Amino acid sequence: MLTIILAAALSVATPVLREDNIPQIVSLLTLEEKAAILVGCGSTAFDGIGRNDVGVKGSAGATHAIPRLGIPSIVFADGPAGLRIDPVRPGTDKTYYCTGFPIGTMLASTWNTAIVRSVGEAMGNEVLEYGVDVLLAPGMNIHRNPLCGRNFEYFSEDPVLCGEIAAAYVQGVQSNGVGTSVKHFALNNQELNRLHNDARVSERAAREIYLRAFEIAVRKAQPWTLMSSYNYINGVHASENRWLLTDVLRDDWGFRGVVVTDWGGGYDTAAQIHAGNDLIQSGSDARYNALIEAVKDGRLAMEDVDACVTRALELIVKCPAFRGYKFSEAPDLEAHAKVCRAAADEGIVLLKNRGALPAGPDGVTALLGVTSYAFIAGGTGSGDVHRPYVVDLQQGLSDAGFKLESGLDEFYTAYMQDERWRCKMIDGNNSWVIDRERPIEVVPDELIKQAALNAERAVVTIGRVFGEGKDRDLYYSYMLQEREVELLRKTSDAFHAQGKKVTVILNVGGVVEMESWQDLADAILLCWQPGEEGGHSVASALSGEVNPSGRLPMTISRRYEDEPSAANFPRVFEDKPFNYSFYRRLEGNKKDYVVKDIDYTDYAEDIYVGYRYFGTKARGAVAYPFGYGLSYTSFRWSDLKIEKTGSFSEDSKCLKVSLTVTNTGKRAGKDVVELYVKAPGRSIDKPERELKAFAKTPLLEPGQSCTVQMTVPVESLASWENGAWSLEKGRYRIIAARNASDKGLRKAIRL
Ligand code: BGC
Repeated sequence: MLTIILAAALSVATPVLREDNIPQIVSLLTLEEKAAILVGCGSTAFDGIGRNDVGVKGSAGATHAIPRLGIPSIVFADGPAGLRIDPVRPGTDKTYYCTGFPIGTMLASTWNTAIVRSVGEAMGNEVLEYGVDVLLAPGMNIHRNPLCGRNFEYFSEDPVLCGEIAAAYVQGVQSNGVGTSVKHFALNNQELNRLHNDARVSERAAREIYLRAFEIAVRKAQPWTLMSSYNYINGVHASENRWLLTDVLRDDWGFRGVVVTDWGGGYDTAAQIHAGNDLIQSGSDARYNALIEAVKDGRLAMEDVDACVTRALELIVKCPAFRGYKFSEAPDLEAHAKVCRAAADEGIVLLKNRGALPAGPDGVTALLGVTSYAFIAGGTGSGDVHRPYVVDLQQGLSDAGFKLESGLDEFYTAYMQDERWRCKMIDGNNSWVIDRERPIEVVPDELIKQAALNAERAVVTIGRVFGEGKDRDLYYSYMLQEREVELLRKTSDAFHAQGKKVTVILNVGGVVEMESWQDLADAILLCWQPGEEGGHSVASALSGEVNPSGRLPMTISRRYEDEPSAANFPRVFEDKPFNYSFYRRLEGNKKDYVVKDIDYTDYAEDIYVGYRYFGTKARGAVAYPFGYGLSYTSFRWSDLKIEKTGSFSEDSKCLKVSLTVTNTGKRAGKDVVELYVKAPGRSIDKPERELKAFAKTPLLEPGQSCTVQMTVPVESLASWENGAWSLEKGRYRIIAARNASDKGLRKAIRL
């Protein structure tokens, strides 16, 4: 009897965490335990990037467990191009590779939410099966300027495309019962001095452009977590910003998840907790002590701490670690490689085609450019995935039955063996290098001339890799280097003299200048960094086995100086320190506002980002407009219909837009319909047009038609004016177009 009573008393005294007893658990936690839950375990290496010994090897961080109350530790690991964990572990031959999917920008180039969702599903399965709880992805900052070093992880210059693609990604990953962390919230648009830079932006530009993308993802997909960014916003650090993390994120948008700091982000722990930044990662003793002291000396209310702990526990009970999920450490990498390939197939953008493509596999192909033989699957930094292999173009073309011109093939194969070794020596064991050493572009002139006689066509690849912690160098990364232009010129001269065509493949993480050299090419395929299956996808696009259907998620301007943010973005030169995230670090939380574009950045272009600027202020003067992309077939659009739903006095009012798309060409293909809206623009300053919805057709056989449906919530047409959303009355033009410069089909409607 006594034992029964004792056991009952004990079980009352120490309940364990369940989904339905979180308030009780919070009431039982000591201040020290609460601090331990909120402040992460720390890491064994600088910045915690990929070197954490807690949880899964090579994950980014974890929370502390509180065993007495049945609270497990949960594990966070990076994305966004796949799960980032260590591929090998001491004491075992078993490997832990993860699928290297296409970079974020390429996923957005598909304009296909279904395919992005399937990528998310596959990625989330690897998260689950490798024992991770939350994937630190997707990255969804706006492409404000082409030199941002992390643009490859991000989706687009447009908030609707970015938000919709992110929502699909989050839904896919989370369908596995694991979490995501959409990042970096918000206005983290440059890498230079990223920990200390103050983004100075109008509330209108913030709400309509930079926050809108996150808003769409939050409302549509409820990510389990969201990562606050390193930078300041109008003088307040993002992770210490209560307006951002509570008023906007939770009160306005209804976010129900957890906010986690970026790794080592922010200074004032008490301010972070008060702002609603629940988890401090990667954590340190100093942060843990600071939290406890702040409560003890009254600077931080226990109520704020409890709100964060409650949300942290609500996250924990959803995680596989809490469910005790028995992960296999053996996800189906072969099946996921197919998903990777399918997504890359749809994200390739055919920018130019003067009768050069499709071509092959018949006939001999001359394959030039060092990148053809060392394809770039993704970018560097925390977004770099340890993938099992990368299919380069040499292999991709051979697998697809292309015959390669032997002189060049032999030369490059031998040359690249040495170059690979040289690059490896320089990069050493540091898998996190920002400026990864690349092979030098060399090929003897005679080989090009001989190849022009032997081969039917030339394919030249230009490559760029860059990543976290540094922005791109204008001259070395954005512009083509002299050796590259020389290679293109010599190839073009030799092949054109024989009446043969030259195709350029851009294997890049972001846009490069094109205006000065694109006349040398007959066709240009923008294949981004397509993940581990890249060479196969590019081979299919070249031969026409897959008809390209990607569209640009950003504008390609003619010159860097034309960019709306060019005058307010750091110009990077080689003499800057290697990793200058910390470029202007000052003591503690002190902030200095002296150096323009480093201490602070003025978002002077305001809402006029990308095509909103080029279409309104600089009419049409671009190399390739936002949304652009060619196909091997042609499509006719007809029957544009707009229907108002709801009574128009209710909140849920929408415009339902439909359109018929017919394949009028000779090959099967997919088309993308981009729906722009031009507001009256009388009482409110508005861009010439803004993307409000889009749709991708299924594969249409020649002669086949389909009807695409798109929905535009009327509230998405409003502008932020004097502290509130306001919808201008009048005539709105609905434009179904092929890109931001295309006239398209139009209809007007009164609102
Ligand atoms: C990056 C984040 C990343 C984190 C953890 C930070 O340096 O900015 O994107 O998730 O490290 O690795």
